[in-house]
Amino acid sequence: MRAVVFSRYGDESVLELSERPVPTPAAGEVLVRVRAAGVNPLDWKFREGAVGTDRPFPLALGWDVAGEVVATSAADGPAVGDEVYGMLPLPHGGAYQEFAVLPASALAPKPVGLSFAQAAAVPLAALTAWQSLDAAHVVPGQRVLVHAGAGGVGHFAVQLAKARGAHVTATASPRNLDFLRRLGVDEPVDRTSDGLHAIEPVHAVIDTIGGRTQQESWRLLRAGGALITLPEAIDEAYRVPGVQGQRVIVAPDGKALHSIGALIDNGLVHVEVQDVLPLHKAADAHRTSKNGQVRGKLVITL
Ligand SMILES: NC(=O)c1ccc[n+]([C@@H]2O[C@H](COP(=O)([O-])OP(=O)(O)OC[C@H]3O[C@@H](n4cnc5c(N)ncnc54)[C@H](OP(=O)(O)O)[C@@H]3O)[C@@H](O)[C@H]2O)c1
Repeated sequence: MRAVVFSRYGDESVLELSERPVPTPAAGEVLVRVRAAGVNPLDWKFREGAVGTDRPFPLALGWDVAGEVVATSAADGPAVGDEVYGMLPLPHGGAYQEFAVLPASALAPKPVGLSFAQAAAVPLAALTAWQSLDAAHVVPGQRVLVHAGAGGVGHFAVQLAKARGAHVTATASPRNLDFLRRLGVDEPVDRTSDGLHAIEPVHAVIDTIGGRTQQESWRLLRAGGALITLPEAIDEAYRVPGVQGQRVIVAPDGKALHSIGALIDNGLVHVEVQDVLPLHKAADAHRTSKNGQVRGKLVITL
């Protein structure tokens, strides 16, 4: 099968399109003919060596797939021919290739209203948003702040928080403020302004940025609130008493993808795909993702 792999850590030039054996599903796993693979910042961080693995080179990458089941070794779960989407378990990737193996429990039916490319944009980013809202125990009527609401995780987080009945504030650069309004954000805030100083204290912050953004988020929370950070660990030097702070690490979850798929098919969650590139342009996708300006998601098709 055709696969994008790399044999040393480095910049985009280490990515190579090569012929690899089709993987074999172990007990409980499913073999998926990959129609599209989502691109996440994790992909280029892994390629650069920032994420540990005990596997030898060449390493496969990519964690989001949408495609058709071609074989299964699972007693339960999808059947051969089903159209599915799902996230591979961390840290070992394998979505930038014609066939991928996933645990049956990581898969859900592809939302009927989405193309394969749109469906591949969903799993890792939407599950991160979903699990972050769970970790913050967001309930109807609470106020949620999402940093970088126009990004991959951010655009799902704002919509999923709205679907849970929250009042949503989100930051973005000026070019994305209308996009945030279209997603249903109640208070879009220009991240180049000092607009966050004026917001009411929130119950939850979803921090997709880290660094100073994380440090400055503590004072935006009300007592009993939760700071959920994604790119890096909590910086203990800035922790504030009376507020929960934790890093969420996303995990595959087919059941949650079922629920997210229902929200998508009911028109409550929109999937924004900025660009779709062929497999041999994976390096371009990584370059664009690393630039940090992507609205929604990038996707690779096979
Ligand atoms: N812990 C986990 O399990 C987990 C899971 C998923 C993602 N992550 C991490 O979370 C981060 C976000 O992931 P993602 O997929 O949402 O990334 P992304 O899609 O690449 O985010 C892009 C967005 O970030 C905004 N942005 C760029 N630079 C910014 C800055 N300096 N300040 C504020 N906003 C900025 C841009 O919007 P504007 O131009 O409108 O600001 C852009 O739309 C990444 O570091 C990723 O590795 C962690």
